[in-house]
Amino acid sequence: MIRLSANVDKVATLRQSRGDSEPDPVVAAALCEQAGVEGITFHLRSDRRHIQDRDVDLLAQMAKTELNFEMAATEEMIARALAVRPAQCTLVPERDGEVTTEDGVDVLANRAALSEVIPRLKEAGMRVSIFSRLDADQIRAAKEVGADRVELFTGPYALARTSSEQDREFGRLSDAAKWAEKWGLGLNAGHGLDVRNLRRVATIPNLMEVSIGQSLWARAVFIGLERAVGELLAVLRER
Ligand code: PXP
Repeated sequence: MIRLSANVDKVATLRQSRGDSEPDPVVAAALCEQAGVEGITFHLRSDRRHIQDRDVDLLAQMAKTELNFEMAATEEMIARALAVRPAQCTLVPERDGEVTTEDGVDVLANRAALSEVIPRLKEAGMRVSIFSRLDADQIRAAKEVGADRVELFTGPYALARTSSEQDREFGRLSDAAKWAEKWGLGLNAGHGLDVRNLRRVATIPNLMEVSIGQSLWARAVFIGLERAVGELLAVLRER
């Protein structure tokens, strides 16, 4: 079964745009759970542009499903993860000025730091995933620094428009999935996935979890959250 983890950052983005209290990403998470998702993802950014510390604390108290804490590997975020103990921490890069996460972690360049950080999270009982570049050496390095899983960066696949571009980008995802399997890493995927492009991604045999935000909320605005979640679950259950 491929688990669906709903990313609630966009709900927090809407709330922050007015500096008000609504819509509340914690309520959004509860409604996603009611609609059948198997996990909730949030990214606490160092600039606190969307998810706030209060959201993290409440999600940790209220979530009934697995929490996936997307975080940069900084001491500040490690302390937050150790305080709230999500089921999974996904390590992501954060760059000044980016609108969203634009690439996977460069594990090769950050090998020493990751080798020190990951055991601390794992010893506290959390699973660690690295948002990964689709490169054999990067994926092998993820294993070597102690990650349990990698999350394949599906952004370029999602942006591909022609069928030859889509084939090429899907081929890169497929190869990366095989390397993850070869090195004994669990496999997640995310970024830019929607009800259409998810179908092909869901054919990757060793895929365990997808995290989806933007397209879920974009669709929920028009057709309602329950149906938007239901559509994604239906695609994942076709496998
Ligand atoms: N995975 C990671 C690591 C991300 O940074 C994001 C975006 O916050 C997602 C998945 C979800 O991407 P989207 O909002 O495009 O579904």
